[in-house]
Amino acid sequence: MISMGKRTDTQSMYRNYQEHGVENYYREKWREYKNFHESNIKELLIRNIGRFKSDCILDLCSGGGEVTKVLLEKGINNISGADPYTFNLYIKNTGKECIDLSFKDILRGRMDKRYTTIICSFALHLVDEKSLSMVVNELFKHTETFIIIAPHKRPFLERIKGVNLIFSDYSLTHKGKKVYMRGYVNKNYSQSYRNGE
Ligand SMILES: C[S@@+](CC[C@H](N)C(=O)[O-])C[C@H]1O[C@@H](n2cnc3c(N)ncnc32)[C@H](O)[C@@H]1O
Repeated sequence: MISMGKRTDTQSMYRNYQEHGVENYYREKWREYKNFHESNIKELLIRNIGRFKSDCILDLCSGGGEVTKVLLEKGINNISGADPYTFNLYIKNTGKECIDLSFKDILRGRMDKRYTTIICSFALHLVDEKSLSMVVNELFKHTETFIIIAPHKRPFLERIKGVNLIFSDYSLTHKGKKVYMRGYVNKNYSQSYRNGE
């Protein structure tokens, strides 16, 4: 089973990525994906649910629906997933739609819908550093708020021009490590979004 959390730590996940390459890894093993930090994801989402608009949410790199399942439990239904490898697992676990969308697709301008909030959990570190600002800027053409959940402080999106941190929180794992949740807006997008452009 591929996993994030106590049974397989972040280092062994890193080793798997090194050995197989991230994309091959998920292409072959998507059926077995499990995030053992789901309780941290749940705690963070529930504690911060009032800090983001839930009218239309995209669960980006949606895995097995770890974010979506929590929000569905809280009565948020206008949510869908996007993942190039695990979309069948996501659909099975959540009953929601999932588009086949990779970071490369995002850079190619393949997103065609607007969301109030995009949430990316345990995945934004997979974008290489030189593409990160382009991916984030492209996402901000389609969302008012962008939220990341990650077991480390990286990436620092507030370093990207126009991107502002609006909230930050963390949850402690059983080993006392922090899982972070951070919310961002883009000044320029917020203005055009409010104007309905
Ligand atoms: C560690 S999992 C996180 C899944 C889920 N969001 C969670 O919190 O457990 C990383 C996810 O990124 C997806 N992924 C891997 N490479 C990707 C790429 N190039 N573009 C978009 N998603 C990718 C994988 O299919 C996988 O579902």
